[in-house]
Amino acid sequence: MSFAALRTSLRRTAPAAARAVRPAARQSLRRFTTETPTPKKSSNTLLYGGLGAAAIGGVAFYIYTSSSDTAKEASSAVRSGAQAAKAAANFVPTKADYQKVYNRIAEVIDSAGEYDDGSYGPVLLRLAWHSSGTYDKETGTGGSNYATMRFDPESKHGANAGLHVARGLMEEIKKEFPWISYGDLWTLGGVTAVQEMGGPKIPWRPGRIDGFAVQATPDGRLPDATQGSDHLRNIFYRMGFNDQEIVALSGAHALGRCHHDRSGFDGPWTFSPTTVTNDYYKLLFDEKWVWKKWNGPKQLEDKKTKSLMMLPTDYVLTQDKSFKKYAKAYAEDQDLFFKDFAAVVSRLFELGVPTAQFVSSEPWILPNVDEK
Ligand code: HEM
Repeated sequence: MSFAALRTSLRRTAPAAARAVRPAARQSLRRFTTETPTPKKSSNTLLYGGLGAAAIGGVAFYIYTSSSDTAKEASSAVRSGAQAAKAAANFVPTKADYQKVYNRIAEVIDSAGEYDDGSYGPVLLRLAWHSSGTYDKETGTGGSNYATMRFDPESKHGANAGLHVARGLMEEIKKEFPWISYGDLWTLGGVTAVQEMGGPKIPWRPGRIDGFAVQATPDGRLPDATQGSDHLRNIFYRMGFNDQEIVALSGAHALGRCHHDRSGFDGPWTFSPTTVTNDYYKLLFDEKWVWKKWNGPKQLEDKKTKSLMMLPTDYVLTQDKSFKKYAKAYAEDQDLFFKDFAAVVSRLFELGVPTAQFVSSEPWILPNVDEK
């Protein structure tokens, strides 16, 4: 067992009682819409413009932090000062520089303490996915390129409730590495989360640029968990995915949990919410799922322990003939799931990014922190 797997399997023993029950929250109504704003032209000029803006931000942060007293802040100031200087000098980051960001994200993931199940990994993966899953292949709008969830109203869309936690964590890392674009940083966060939580290697490469509020997409582009197979197909076909890919992507729900004060739903999908496994599919078929009787949105609970949950959109993978075929295959073969999951998540994170923007023709495989 690798160190990462050991660490994550230890985490899964976090007592259920330690998880606070959060106050009831209004479940947001979402609407599917095809309206799109006019996309802005992307070019390398914007890329360098973005780097320049990042440099200015970095310098401002340097000035701010260099006047602080504590050793921690001082060391952070030195780091961000050095990064800002690099950005200002038209610094061209190498793979090793991105690896440093990866390693720093891994540290942050592990610093969660009592938060949820002891890891920020799941919420970072959700940020990466929600910033990419707005893509519309017909209009070429949305996707991970411009990181428009930084702006209102996208940051306030019902589907993005709770993601301020992940954006806040990423903001701290951005201060240390001001040269990285938000889109690269957020998707790298998703890659790090999957890999450090015992999942497969996710091929990834940088090249996304910071955009503007005008490039944000309208509400309704992300899936609504209360709906069925037609809705899932509408949403994911719009991104360019097929049935097999919809099922493979859904396996991300091996991780993390629903928070009543974010989505209205409540509870984890698996007993090991900080380790990537194919348990989500296994549980879907092996457990008996019944509708939860509660004052909340329609969700299922496992009859045996009543401690796990499934969303209507999860359960539909066992009901729809085409989805079921793939879900069964992943339940029976974790290696197959890992292979397909890695490929589809890698594609997801590149949605909306013009190929010419990437710094390399092939995505990279970044080593885990405990790998030599
Ligand atoms: C298939 C359609 C999907 C629906 C309807 C859906 C819906 C949801 C909902 C309602 C939550 C709970 C949010 C909260 O209360 O904190 C959630 C959490 C999560 N989702 Fe999905 N999701 C879908 C697909 C995906 C995909 C494609 C990924 C990644 C590849 C993903 C990754 C996650 C993760 C990791 C969490 C846990 C976040 C945390 O613990 O804070 N989901 N999802």
